[in-house]
Amino acid sequence: MSTSIDLTGQVALVTGGSKGIGRAIAEAFLDAGADVLVFDIALPDEDQSLHLHAEQQQRTITYSQTNTSDGNAVRDALAAYCKTSNTQGIDILVNNTGISTVKPFLDLAEEEWDSLFATNVKSVFHCCQAVLPLMLEKGRGCIVNIASELAYLGRAQFAAYTASKGAVLSLTRSLAREFAPTIKVNGIAPGPCDTDMLRGEIETPEQWEKEIDLPLGRVAKPEEIAMTAVFLASDFSSFYCGEILSPNGGSLMR
Ligand SMILES: NC(=O)c1ccc[n+]([C@@H]2O[C@H](COP(=O)([O-])OP(=O)(O)OC[C@H]3O[C@@H](n4cnc5c(N)ncnc54)[C@H](O)[C@@H]3O)[C@@H](O)[C@H]2O)c1
Repeated sequence: MSTSIDLTGQVALVTGGSKGIGRAIAEAFLDAGADVLVFDIALPDEDQSLHLHAEQQQRTITYSQTNTSDGNAVRDALAAYCKTSNTQGIDILVNNTGISTVKPFLDLAEEEWDSLFATNVKSVFHCCQAVLPLMLEKGRGCIVNIASELAYLGRAQFAAYTASKGAVLSLTRSLAREFAPTIKVNGIAPGPCDTDMLRGEIETPEQWEKEIDLPLGRVAKPEEIAMTAVFLASDFSSFYCGEILSPNGGSLMR
């Protein structure tokens, strides 16, 4: 049995893939031989684009400026991709889109709560509803949902974010049960990872010290989370169903 991961011939849709963890996942899928479609509300900055990397790997990457919390936009963008790329659909879906809000619970406005849930939870709903029929038609497929270790730990001033990620965990398990064994559905609950999201949450050196107060003594690089997504998309995870893997540097041991 070969021990290298080969996703040649597969198409992976990565949401929120213009930067951060999503970008690293898109890059890792290209390296594993997949073609990649990115839905992101913002196109990548020039230095973040993976067009050249895809070319070097003899693969394709397509960026579609799509708000994943908008169901019509998701369906239209997917239909447009299937038409222009002449593919049968999507083999791998990584629901990675996410935003965070740091605010005392009592100051949290209803609009902020709704916006966070629309981005972090409804995006998963819309993308799964759009992609699953295509996967079922093919008779196979794989979904990986990105949650957060904070869904388990909770955190002061992160109530809306942690609640939304708890919803992603539950949704992952229910979809895994509903669509097994045809579709493999699993999730990832990362610990702190060096991206714009994390840096935007940290204002003081003390907060950074708190972030790295874990057995490995550092935050993750996006590539370290991406490899978990590649594993879950590969046949090496064929006996995983509804599992949530947690690359977290030891901050949470279950
Ligand atoms: N960075 C961390 O420490 C950390 C830890 C645990 C979980 N996560 C989760 O990992 C995922 C990626 O986070 P990141 O740190 O790379 O964040 P990031 O802010 O660096 O990147 C998020 C990407 O999502 C896109 N996006 C936001 N709203 C969107 C929308 N409505 N439609 C489409 N795209 C949208 C952004 O444009 C951006 O490209 C998120 O779900 C986040 O909650 C991050």
